[in-house]
Amino acid sequence: MYLPRSAWSQARVSGNPFTLGIASGSPTHDSVVLWTRLAFEKEDASRLQPGPVAVRWELAHDDGFSRIVQTGQAQAVAGLAHSVHVEVQGLQPDRWYFYRFVVGDAVSATGRTRTFPAPDAVVARLRLAYASCQRWEHGYYSAYRHMRDEALDLVMFLGDYIYEYPTAARAVRAPTGGWLLTLDDYRQRYALHKSDADLQAMHASCPWMVTWDDHEVQNDYAGATPGDSGPPAPDFAARRAAAYQAFYEHMPVRASVLTQAMAGLASGAEMRIYQRVPYGRLASLYMLDARQYKDAQVCTREGKAGSSTLNPANCAAWKDPARSMLGAQQESWLDAEWGRAASKESGWNVIGQQSLLGQRDFHRGPGQIFWNDGWDGYAAARTRFTGALQKHAVANPVVLGGDVHENWVGHVKADYADAGSASVGTEFCGTSLTSRSNGNAKIPDTLAENPHFVFADSERKGYGVVELTPSKLTTTLRVVDDVTRADSGVQTLAKFAVQAGRPVIEKA
Ligand SMILES: [Fe+2]
Repeated sequence: MYLPRSAWSQARVSGNPFTLGIASGSPTHDSVVLWTRLAFEKEDASRLQPGPVAVRWELAHDDGFSRIVQTGQAQAVAGLAHSVHVEVQGLQPDRWYFYRFVVGDAVSATGRTRTFPAPDAVVARLRLAYASCQRWEHGYYSAYRHMRDEALDLVMFLGDYIYEYPTAARAVRAPTGGWLLTLDDYRQRYALHKSDADLQAMHASCPWMVTWDDHEVQNDYAGATPGDSGPPAPDFAARRAAAYQAFYEHMPVRASVLTQAMAGLASGAEMRIYQRVPYGRLASLYMLDARQYKDAQVCTREGKAGSSTLNPANCAAWKDPARSMLGAQQESWLDAEWGRAASKESGWNVIGQQSLLGQRDFHRGPGQIFWNDGWDGYAAARTRFTGALQKHAVANPVVLGGDVHENWVGHVKADYADAGSASVGTEFCGTSLTSRSNGNAKIPDTLAENPHFVFADSERKGYGVVELTPSKLTTTLRVVDDVTRADSGVQTLAKFAVQAGRPVIEKA
């Protein structure tokens, strides 16, 4: 039933409470999350800030909202920064919808979202973008303006949505605020990002699946162990809980993600964001969490916190099988998911996670140097990961990653220590949206030393587009001309193809 606006008890607002935009995400074949966060201007703030505010939402078949599918009312509460997470249920599979929010006379922008095909449906095509690392002060989000033209079904965001730094040298645009330590700090930094028109428009154009990496809390933190940036928080558990809460408040994730009370989060309870969602019979989409549960980095230089390179010959802990990247519970969950028939039947198993999976030895010739924060610092955990892919004969694994601010394209090896070992999947680790990298001077050497990779670039910023059909994967690396310009153009850096049933990367 569609009720006229006057039938709802709603707050009176004089300004626009929707300046932080709207978003949708966490889609399944019959549901999707609709998100917004109210931001009150001037006299609205003093009147509405303390209390809950009723927000009406509408979901329709058309952008004129003449064919309403569902409508309802949600409470935006002060304790969750007046964020709204509506889980719309009972939708048709494989359909596009339009949505918007209403408070008083204020109406949000209109968003476009979709459900996934039913798990048993035969699906011709899926187009998704993967993106990560959008440090505000390192550039503009013109990449998102171009991403809107890619006709996407989904964005997979792979971490570092915000950074906890005050600013950077040669900042392209200065962020507001200093080091992020408190809930209010994190909220303000998310609000800054959410004010960006290009980012808002990309959120409004299709659903997102999201995970986080370290900078949503602190550089190089690992599980319950703090990292090394800025002033130390007096209580890291409390800082992490605040950061996790702010992540929840600003992302289109399900309310069930917030299963624990805030006190529970501070005492170490999990905020579970890992998941698997089928996209018909065409693909299984995984989003992993390789940050919340990981063991601390080992053999960091001079016993400091955080990351550095390590030499495995001088680091006994490097091989320790007790160390984990995903945590015991997520590892066994993933093993069970891969053991299910679905992972063998579905055409592609697309595994979104934070970092570069493949081994990257920075030392030319005999001997090895690895970076200890990524999978290279967790050798036994990576071998369990690739071993489980083989054990369960997972169909067409495709690993997507981020974190390194560089494009890396390669083959997933059964055993990275053995150059002759089988290729068990493919990997596309994306460059950053904006965050800086070191340039291509050393890339040819690193590629030569690590021949399981077929392509790398450490200069260009942007995103990747993966198109899946039952018989073929095509990945296009899209890069902006100049990340320091808001009006930058975009171009294709490289394009690759993988045939189903054959984990070999071809130039396309
Ligand atoms: Fe990053």
